[in-house]
Amino acid sequence: MSTLAIATAREVFDLLRDDLVAIEQELGRDAASSVSTITEIAEYLREGGGKRIRPSLLLLASHMLGFSGPNAIRLGAVVEMVHTATLVHDDIIDGADTRRGRPSANTTWGNEKCVLAGDWLYMQAFKVALEEKNLKVLDLLIGLTQQMVEGELLQIQKLGKAVSEAEYYDLIFRKTACLFSTSMRLGAVLAGATDQQEASVGVYGRAVGLAFQIVDDVLDLTATEEVLGKPVASDLREGKATLAVIHSFDHGTAAERQAIQRVLDDRSFENVSRQQIKDILIRNGSVTYAMSVADRYAEQSRQALKSMPDSDFKRALLWVPDFVVAREK
Ligand code: IPE
Ligand code: IPE
Ligand code: MG
Ligand code: MG
Repeated sequence: MSTLAIATAREVFDLLRDDLVAIEQELGRDAASSVSTITEIAEYLREGGGKRIRPSLLLLASHMLGFSGPNAIRLGAVVEMVHTATLVHDDIIDGADTRRGRPSANTTWGNEKCVLAGDWLYMQAFKVALEEKNLKVLDLLIGLTQQMVEGELLQIQKLGKAVSEAEYYDLIFRKTACLFSTSMRLGAVLAGATDQQEASVGVYGRAVGLAFQIVDDVLDLTATEEVLGKPVASDLREGKATLAVIHSFDHGTAAERQAIQRVLDDRSFENVSRQQIKDILIRNGSVTYAMSVADRYAEQSRQALKSMPDSDFKRALLWVPDFVVAREK
């Protein structure tokens, strides 16, 4: 990372420091249930940390458009709780045993309790959102939750198949980018922004979210579990074809296509090794391709903010796509 980028990262953190502290406090209050198992799981998830990128986007959007106040803290906590609920369910579905560098909740408490804790977290998020007494807010959150559930379900339906790029983008919009977009739009709603401003920041969020998931999928292929804090090379073992793999499937030789399909069918690297797949991706320039698409979305997100008023918050939002594309975890 260049010194300029580091200075910007610190600057962004300084801009949001007080708000993020307040969001942690709100999340702490929101993790309490009268049933101890739920409190334990909710607390464990909260303590695990995470990048808090979705609440940060909501805060930056609302401040860029002139809003500041406790509502942004509450809604920041809401989008983080929705995110956490999807992670709990996602780790059950994916059979993942680590998350945020620790055993995943399902490893510690088992699937049954974690399904219910995830449901509880969703509803806790809606309960806090209800305090806004704003139907627009609820409408956005309900549409979002349905998209995310549909995304995970579509993904299950497509397991083992080398999906098309178009199908891939639809899927990652639903499961990831929609929450980024909604976080931005909620910030705009709080600020009483115009429909056009809300749409623009929504486009920004969608593009950042698509870049984010593309990079997440590349990291699954290239990173180590120590750095990432969650399992690696897991997508192929789960039968998921992500962008780099789709690219090799579409552009590689018949033998390469067969090798990829074999791993998707086997759901393991028993017959075709992880290294063989890596070699195929390298030969076809597929990781480079996936990163170039992420770069394109990063650029698209910056363009979407063109007509927004200049401020430190806008500058921070212009930095986020660079962070997303360059991140290592
Ligand atoms: C993980 O999201 C789920 C995806 C959409 C890939 P994050 O990478 O934002 O997870 P945390 O909150 O930082 O752990
Ligand atoms: C994103 O997909 C999951 C959610 C939106 C919940 P992944 O399955 O790739 O996410 P990770 O890699 O487990 O964080
Ligand atoms: Mg997963
Ligand atoms: Mg992943």
